[in-house]
Amino acid sequence: MPSITFVHPDGRAQRIDGGDGESAMQAATRHDVNGILAECGGNAMCATCHVYVDEDWLARLPAMGDDEDALLDGAAAERRANSRLSCQIKLAADLDGLVLNLPDRQL
Ligand code: FES
Repeated sequence: MPSITFVHPDGRAQRIDGGDGESAMQAATRHDVNGILAECGGNAMCATCHVYVDEDWLARLPAMGDDEDALLDGAAAERRANSRLSCQIKLAADLDGLVLNLPDRQL
């Protein structure tokens, strides 16, 4: 079962367990991680599941699709080179230990 650590804007780290095949967003909402709103339910339509992927993990994620790329341009918080939508990050054993930083706002 892959674990993920969400780092809040104040520096607080929150480690949760995700299920195989679950998205990082689904794991976050199941564990009530503040800062992941996921208003569209994971359909890549809202960008309220925006995260900044820890630099050590960025290259291990699959490339983003065109829809994700376009949506990130409209994210409430600043888009950075390590911005991703957590609903598009599928968890698997090789992502055990993934670290995702939360932006200061989603709306
Ligand atoms: S939950 Fe809406 S884009 Fe990810």
